[in-house]
Amino acid sequence: MAFGADYNPEQWPRETWDEDVRLMREAGVTVVSLAIFSWARLQPERDSWNFDWLDEVIDLLHANGIAVDLGTATASPPPWLVTEHPEILPITHDGSTLWPGGRQHWRPTSPVFREHALRLVTAMAERYRDHPAICAWHVSNELGCHNIYDYSDDAARAFRGWLTARYGSIEALNDAWGTDFWSQRYTRFEQILPPRQAAANPNPTQQLDFKRFSSDALKQYLRAERDILHRITPGVPVTTNFMVMPGITAMNYADWAAEVDFVANDHYVVPGPQARDELSFSANLTGNIAGGKPWFLMEHSTSAVNWQPINTPKKPGALRRDSLTHVAHGADAVCFFQWRQSKAGAEKFHSAMVPHAGEDSPIFRDVVSLGSELGALSSVVGARRRKAAAAIIFDWDSLWASEQDSHPTERLRYKQEALDWYSAFLALGIRADVVPSAADLDGYSLVVAPILYSVPAVLKARLETYVGSGGHLVTGYFSGITDEHDHIWLGGYPGALADLLGIRIDEFGPLADGDEVGLDNGTTATLWADRVRPVADGVEVLARYATGDQAGDAAITRRAVGAGSAAYVGARLGAEGLEPVLADLAARAGVASELPVGLRGAVEQAIRADDDGDYVFLINRTDAAVDISGVDGETLTGEETTLAPRSVAVRRYVRTPGA
Ligand code: GLA
Ligand code: GLA
Repeated sequence: MAFGADYNPEQWPRETWDEDVRLMREAGVTVVSLAIFSWARLQPERDSWNFDWLDEVIDLLHANGIAVDLGTATASPPPWLVTEHPEILPITHDGSTLWPGGRQHWRPTSPVFREHALRLVTAMAERYRDHPAICAWHVSNELGCHNIYDYSDDAARAFRGWLTARYGSIEALNDAWGTDFWSQRYTRFEQILPPRQAAANPNPTQQLDFKRFSSDALKQYLRAERDILHRITPGVPVTTNFMVMPGITAMNYADWAAEVDFVANDHYVVPGPQARDELSFSANLTGNIAGGKPWFLMEHSTSAVNWQPINTPKKPGALRRDSLTHVAHGADAVCFFQWRQSKAGAEKFHSAMVPHAGEDSPIFRDVVSLGSELGALSSVVGARRRKAAAAIIFDWDSLWASEQDSHPTERLRYKQEALDWYSAFLALGIRADVVPSAADLDGYSLVVAPILYSVPAVLKARLETYVGSGGHLVTGYFSGITDEHDHIWLGGYPGALADLLGIRIDEFGPLADGDEVGLDNGTTATLWADRVRPVADGVEVLARYATGDQAGDAAITRRAVGAGSAAYVGARLGAEGLEPVLADLAARAGVASELPVGLRGAVEQAIRADDDGDYVFLINRTDAAVDISGVDGETLTGEETTLAPRSVAVRRYVRTPGA
């Protein structure tokens, strides 16, 4: 199990490096990411290079048995480059320039930036091609974190190229964008601009295509660095750190995963009632983006971050629990930002493995103990996620399109709805995979697709086939509404899915802030309450509204289709409200918890499997102790009988040959 951190030795005097490697060895660190923000040090002027210090650090690490995930150092352009070429700076939608002084101040589509960045990548690859310490390449850093949407002239040119490739002709683009609306009809691609600040909200399909383009532009940039690295160092795997985490939605990582040799992710906990469940959700989605194969946790935090309004430290046990939850969902590496807490700069109040206090500190003691515990889990390395019986679909197009402006409500939150369903699964103790929409649904007895707003004909057909072959599909409000061009499916809502579900909705049901509608199953709708009209034979109403104008109308329906079914949950019920609804739907789909009754809700169960058996992770979701004495299996780590608050136990089950 790899264990380590981002390491930024250039921030420290030479003598600190010796202490660093001593403490790394004490903590059991096996790998560090290096040179991520080192461009200005490595190339202080256009034609002056300085690799000596990096040579020395890499040699020192290697001599101490620590492998290097080497950054390509392109994440933050140096002052000389910006001074010579201010045209690499990103432009916001209202035309302002994003100036240097922070980081990632470069346009993903700038040919000038690319020329200089790729020159550096080539120099790095050539210099370190034969160094035995290098175990992987770390392209740039968190691509798109600060520079995803650039509205510059470079972006305009690249956007036109992307649109030409997508549509082939200006007529096809006009059809897709519905440009007869508000006199937007184009006669030449050169007339097209990014959706810059306009007098009224720009064309929605233009906005959606710009989101797709912007994710693709960074993906192309990733490819450009990767191709150089593959050419010069064919034996060294290439990755980049994704951000499957709260608040980050602009990069379509399901689509990027095929571009890297192994998936790596960064995750930071954002406090809130579902913070722990969100970590599990993100780790789960990352594992499925990686196709069930192991992945690399490139960054998370030992304790507080510095970029939230209030940065509270982690509670006791949370550092370990958060780390092991990622491992439970397929991580074969546990790494942190960063090794040593900075003394200066914007992140000096961000936690690290070695805090300001130094080695004599609770955080460093926790780090040392985690390092030795990961050693006890080394046999887990290589084990894949064991597929669950249920899945939640996470669809980037629906995420991007459903939250655009000029919709029935601005309050809708795609990821929150998906997370609420995930929390309901956890509360019932039922394992569910969070999968991208392109994933193979075969083998899942139950598939939940919350706010599946964007349903191209291909996806419509896939869902029909899934249900037709005995699958149980659940979807909900604001699903089935548009095709891939954000055009409404006509004939009544929920559009593409109306016939499969056997229902019609005549008008959308957004609720005003503070409004609540009670259902006859005891749950309460906020934000949205569709009045559902069953229209096909065999549609069963599972719940009706009990209060308000909607009283008596159907809220939740289920249509049996052969051995399968298609159910619709027309209201936002929140995680707690979804729990009884899901309990019913899961039971009808034949999907049950694999946990003893007493543990359901209190413990999350995640399973990795190899040829010989399973690794079962029991993760305490609560701040109270949980009795796990009824669970068998050989304990690899953690408690035998009583799981402490925020603790994790890992059990090994060896399959009986022939069983
Ligand atoms: C991101 C970056 C790191 C650091 C951390 C702080 O993950 O990649 O460089 O800024 O955030 O949380
Ligand atoms: C105004 C405009 C119309 C339309 C409506 C929508 O009246 O003139 O074109 O946009 O608002 O409410």
